Amino acid sequence: MSSTGNEAIENLLSEDRSFPPPAAFVDAANAQPSIYQEAEADYLAFWRRQALERIDWIREPTVTLDDADAPFFKWFTDGTLNLSYNCLDRHLDTGGDKVAYHWEGEPGDLRTITYSDLHAEVCRFANALIGLGVERGDRVAIYMGMIPELPVAMLACARIGAIHSVVFGGFSSDALADRIDDATAKLVITQDGAWRRGSIVPLKDFTDVAVDRCESITDVIVVRRCENDVTMTEDRDHWYHDLIEEASSDNEPAEMSAEDPLYILYTSGTTAKPKGIVHTQGGYLTGVSTTHHYVFDIKPDDVYWCAADIGWVTGHSYIVYGPLANHTTGVMYEGAPDTPTKNRLWEIVERYGVTVFYTAPTAIRAFMKWGDEYPAGHDLSSLRLLGTVGEPINPEAWMWYQRTIGGERCPIVDTWWQTETGSIMLTPLPGVVSTKPGSATFPFPGVGADVFDEAGNSVPLGGGGYLVLTKPWPAMLRTIYGDPDRYVDTYWSKYDGVYFAGDGCKRDDEGYYWLLGRVDDVMNISGHRISTTEVESALVAHETVAEAAVVGRADDLTGEAIAAFVTLRSGVEGTEELIKELRGFVSEKISPIARPKSIVFADDLPKTRSGKIMRRLLKDISEERQLGDVTTLANADVVQEIAAMAEAGKGEE
Ligand code: WTA
Repeated sequence: MSSTGNEAIENLLSEDRSFPPPAAFVDAANAQPSIYQEAEADYLAFWRRQALERIDWIREPTVTLDDADAPFFKWFTDGTLNLSYNCLDRHLDTGGDKVAYHWEGEPGDLRTITYSDLHAEVCRFANALIGLGVERGDRVAIYMGMIPELPVAMLACARIGAIHSVVFGGFSSDALADRIDDATAKLVITQDGAWRRGSIVPLKDFTDVAVDRCESITDVIVVRRCENDVTMTEDRDHWYHDLIEEASSDNEPAEMSAEDPLYILYTSGTTAKPKGIVHTQGGYLTGVSTTHHYVFDIKPDDVYWCAADIGWVTGHSYIVYGPLANHTTGVMYEGAPDTPTKNRLWEIVERYGVTVFYTAPTAIRAFMKWGDEYPAGHDLSSLRLLGTVGEPINPEAWMWYQRTIGGERCPIVDTWWQTETGSIMLTPLPGVVSTKPGSATFPFPGVGADVFDEAGNSVPLGGGGYLVLTKPWPAMLRTIYGDPDRYVDTYWSKYDGVYFAGDGCKRDDEGYYWLLGRVDDVMNISGHRISTTEVESALVAHETVAEAAVVGRADDLTGEAIAAFVTLRSGVEGTEELIKELRGFVSEKISPIARPKSIVFADDLPKTRSGKIMRRLLKDISEERQLGDVTTLANADVVQEIAAMAEAGKGEE
């Protein structure tokens, strides 16, 4: 336990395990140590070199960073380019036959899509959009599941200069309508239905409900996927396959300015109105292609699988734009990881010989809970690198991932970033950095980061506080759509001239960064600011625990007291003895102040649709309040179940 006393968040958990990059990785790695020195010497020159080397510009930029109107930064301002060209056309001469996506439908149907196939389809669909009157700068909503037509739709928008707004296919009609309205989208692209755990989610029906409410929509395009019945409204609704059939496969990509908007992506809000994060063209492509190349160490023959949904930023940056710009072969899977069985993902790894695999801690904890027998039954020896993103990864989940999935041979890149940052910001470079389980290690070359206390002083190594980004970066958000004041307020007003990420963070004595969860989740126990992440990680370190969430609930004595919600590994029974044992375990592992006052066992924890634990609702339950908004939850039922368990008084000290 180390603590300097003047930091904003206590540093309680210490981790001594460290894993140097495997020898086999070091020499061949895309990133060599000199890249840190290069970026350190001149970060603008570093990003400029990446922009010029990785992108085929129509007009090369002379400007690198334009900060005249900070915090409305601009990058490569006078450059022009087309992203669809950079992701597709330029690869055709040398490798049109290369597979862009091995796609697998949930029911088991397979499609192999080459770069030439994808290019032809994107050109056709771009022409179809033009035919429907979509113009440069128009907003197009895309409400789809994980089918190949989703990246086609995005790239077709990029090709003609329309701004896409992808709305995750798990959202409701209301959520879709709010996002269409906020962006005043003109057209929505959807599908008849999407497969989810063997049943059909009627996306077209949901779209109809939303569009009834939205005046801006003039046309709806529908991809046929599940062949479920839908109602087509004349003059408004069009079948995708009809449009494609009629369209020419010749399409000249539009010449876009580097700073034209590429897309809007709404961040999963909890209660506040969702924020439409705006990304632009040149800087974004520079950021995602550079990080994809170095962080995932991408080689020409890799089979790369980012098992996220394209509805989130991870899919935008690391399923679509980054990998395609880098001419990578990817895997895209439509359905749930446990359909038809919990073997599904490992079957896919084996089938395609996946070499690089990127997923979220919430998925890893689910795999741990299901048990080792599923991965153990498959040949995962093709894997050479693993990644994680989305939440702090508990050290024990990291260890499990490294052992059980990575066979102790694969480096793990724990990548910290946000919808707002567009590209990976903190991460190990595999082949260079020794990893520590649970640490996102260091800023990516060219990225400036620090940990500040309340007053804006840098917290010395060993202490905790708030993560800030001290230099602009190419893939940064440019604004919040339609609300520039909110952009300044949210990210640039807590500290002068630096970006406030909203995450707690500590650094150890060697300067490694350890993310501590969202600042709103920090607890205050007897005047100690304690991160939920550290207490959760202590719980997950116990052999019986698969997943844990803790919240601070109001307490007369200590201000807040720690309430823990714990999911056990499969086969373990939640007894009173175990509760006692877990309390003692946390006390010992971190500190008696972090000892949970109550522990409730739950089969599952409330999660947002992108898999992040929703602590706010657990706080409502612990404080016996009326439950807050559950509409953004992926699994609303569990909240009632947990509330009933908590009511029954289980685990109260
Ligand atoms: C959290 C996802 C710890 C963090 C790309 C951030 C992480 C939020 C990590 C952004 C990580 C993401 N370690 N925490 N490796 N990666 N986060 O916008 O709280 O969906 O602010 O972007 O996820 O989530 P978003």
